[in-house]
Amino acid sequence: MSNSLLKQVLATSLIWATSVSISLAQAETDTSFKDTLAVKGLKLEANALNYQADASKGEALANQRCIACHGDAMLKMMTTYPDIKGQKAAYLFKQLVDFKRGDRSDPLMQAQAGMLSETEMKDVAYYYSTQTASDLSK
Ligand code: HEC
Repeated sequence: MSNSLLKQVLATSLIWATSVSISLAQAETDTSFKDTLAVKGLKLEANALNYQADASKGEALANQRCIACHGDAMLKMMTTYPDIKGQKAAYLFKQLVDFKRGDRSDPLMQAQAGMLSETEMKDVAYYYSTQTASDLSK
């Protein structure tokens, strides 16, 4: 291979690698859930639809309101309480919207979701999706 051709190949692969890593980074940080199947049909207001979830706000909310039931201590005692850590953000978000709208019924969770705005739901759903599911066998 001639030297200039080699340079050209290297430059092309560098550009390709850069664009791949940029698009991966975008996929990881797209926390609007805009194009997910879960959000389709929910008819969210534009402010909720376009909102970029914030994991640190979600963490604060989780520690305030959710940890009592979805924290490891309670999960070990209450076998019907779901571990929501590591679940997909869009799934968790949809469940919260459904509880609030009464499309999914559970007295405990309808009361909890009733207190959350849709942007808070995105924050907390995103936060839980970043966590690792617990090993409750220990
Ligand atoms: C008083 C206890 C309690 C609190 C507090 C609570 N939850 Fe729950 N949560 C439950 C129970 C029980 C269920 C299972 C409901 C069912 O069986 O349908 C549940 C289910 C869920 C689900 C559905 C999980 C799935 O796999 O479908 C989500 C999402 C959820 N909770 C999120 C939250 C968030 C976010 C908070 C804090 C804002 C919270 N919960 C606070 C008890 C609680």
